[in-house]
Amino acid sequence: VTEAAVSDPVPSWSGVPYLTASELEHLYSVEEFEPLAKERMTPTAYGFIAGWAGSGATTQANRAAFWRHVLLPRVLVNVETIDPVTTVLGNPISLPVMFAPSGYQRLAHPHGEMATARASVEVGTTMILSTSANTSIEDIGAVARNPWYQLYWLTDEELNREMVQRAESAGFRAIALTVDATAPLWRENEMRNPAEIPPGVLSVNTYDRAVKIAPNLTWKTLDRLRSWTKMAIVLKGVVTAEDARIAVDNGVEGLIVSNHGGRALDWAITSMDALPEVVEAVDGRLEVYMDGGVRRGTDVLKALALGARAVLIGRPVLWGIGTGGEAGIVRMMALIRGELTSVMGLCGAPTVAQISRDMVARRQDVVA
Ligand SMILES: Cc1cc2nc3c(=O)[nH]c(=O)nc-3n(C[C@H](O)[C@H](O)[C@H](O)COP(=O)(O)O)c2cc1C
Repeated sequence: VTEAAVSDPVPSWSGVPYLTASELEHLYSVEEFEPLAKERMTPTAYGFIAGWAGSGATTQANRAAFWRHVLLPRVLVNVETIDPVTTVLGNPISLPVMFAPSGYQRLAHPHGEMATARASVEVGTTMILSTSANTSIEDIGAVARNPWYQLYWLTDEELNREMVQRAESAGFRAIALTVDATAPLWRENEMRNPAEIPPGVLSVNTYDRAVKIAPNLTWKTLDRLRSWTKMAIVLKGVVTAEDARIAVDNGVEGLIVSNHGGRALDWAITSMDALPEVVEAVDGRLEVYMDGGVRRGTDVLKALALGARAVLIGRPVLWGIGTGGEAGIVRMMALIRGELTSVMGLCGAPTVAQISRDMVARRQDVVA
């Protein structure tokens, strides 16, 4: 997909036209995008994006966890200037919300990852490109600013090394090694209705090799990855203090507290519940991020109060491109930014550094 093609209007997979920039202005919450995106995809593509493992308990619980956390605002703080700018791995981002890696983004919009990359630049945040992307590492590297590459450790070790070195050459800043999906996944909806992949939509960075996620990835494997690259290594999918301590001992630069949006282990601990113990275990020795169910500015503030440096959003990115391509994500992010700015001010934390642990409390009286 060329730069020019990306700004051209393109028909959606279902034929329902994408929202125009002025129509997008009439959307006011992230949730409103989901049904609009659904109308513009094929049913099986929507099923793949919405999908979960097993009973769906983990996916549901990720959202419900935010309902159990409430805000304790501090008052009489000067909030004339409120700015959610921060850094991840030393690189500035305009707000602490990054784009999670998700495979096959062209199922959500024909421009796929290229639209996401361009939106990430416009928004001023970091995009993480999936191993199962439909766009080449080099094309994203040419557009995105300080992107990260998500690595599924595959059985083909040469291919792993090739992907890592291509990412480094293309200007990627970090490898996010996904560690929570090395055993076969149990997804009933995908068994029932496998996603139909349109011709030409390929996992372009791996497609010419036999691709299988390696079930024998262990802590020892990290040394090999480290020997191939100077990029930072971030582990995606750590949810216990024990593993967080081992990660610190192994010298990784970051952890993403994540249960894969509930798409891997059913009945896993929620990211919000796992976050405090991981943050405590690493004790400032590396950066901790989280994802899973983040949909609102308040969710971002709650996660940061529990010690996350930044959060990632997965499905909302796909709802954004699925509704209006690049402009859809930009609008969706403007809403998250707007609400985050408001609640930072209302909580008496006009900068990210002022968001503190005592601004969030758990309540037990809500089951959502
Ligand atoms: C359609 C889809 C594809 C995904 N593909 C990947 C992937 O290739 N690698 C990965 O590490 N995580 C993948 N994820 C998980 C996301 O990176 C992220 O952890 C999760 O979506 C966060 O939860 P949320 O969707 O509730 O925001 C995928 C998620 C979705 C929705």
